[in-house]
Amino acid sequence: MKKITIVILLLLIVMACQKKAVPVITERKNEPFKSVTTAPTTTAIKPDTAIGKTVFINRCGKCHGLPEPIQFTAERWDGILSYMIPRARLDEVQRVHLTAYVKVNAAK
Ligand code: HEC
Repeated sequence: MKKITIVILLLLIVMACQKKAVPVITERKNEPFKSVTTAPTTTAIKPDTAIGKTVFINRCGKCHGLPEPIQFTAERWDGILSYMIPRARLDEVQRVHLTAYVKVNAAK
């Protein structure tokens, strides 16, 4: 009788150790930052590179050194801006001007 109790106890301990309580994350449900498109969604805003430059200088050097538009091609900037614009919390108008400024001065 005593032996069987010990065996059951041991089994329980072994089983308890195998089951991991840590949840496994298989997919990311909510992205911290929603990426945006750099393509103009409206033609109502006329891109102004001078305004874009001001926005760039004021908003893009806050978390890291201010990058130079020439560092990347317009194509690379599309990708970078799609996740940096939400980080800088730019509105639609700022987005259009900033994108124009960066792309005009991008690496060829
Ligand atoms: C809230 C903070 C924050 C703001 C504001 C921000 N960035 Fe960034 N940026 C980061 C972080 C963090 C990284 C490092 C890469 C990553 O985690 O994606 C980064 C990386 C970069 C890179 C390097 C990307 C690469 O692939 O090498 C560039 C270029 C860049 N940011 C440009 C910008 C521009 C342009 C703006 C303005 C629209 C901006 N950032 C605003 C946080 C920020």
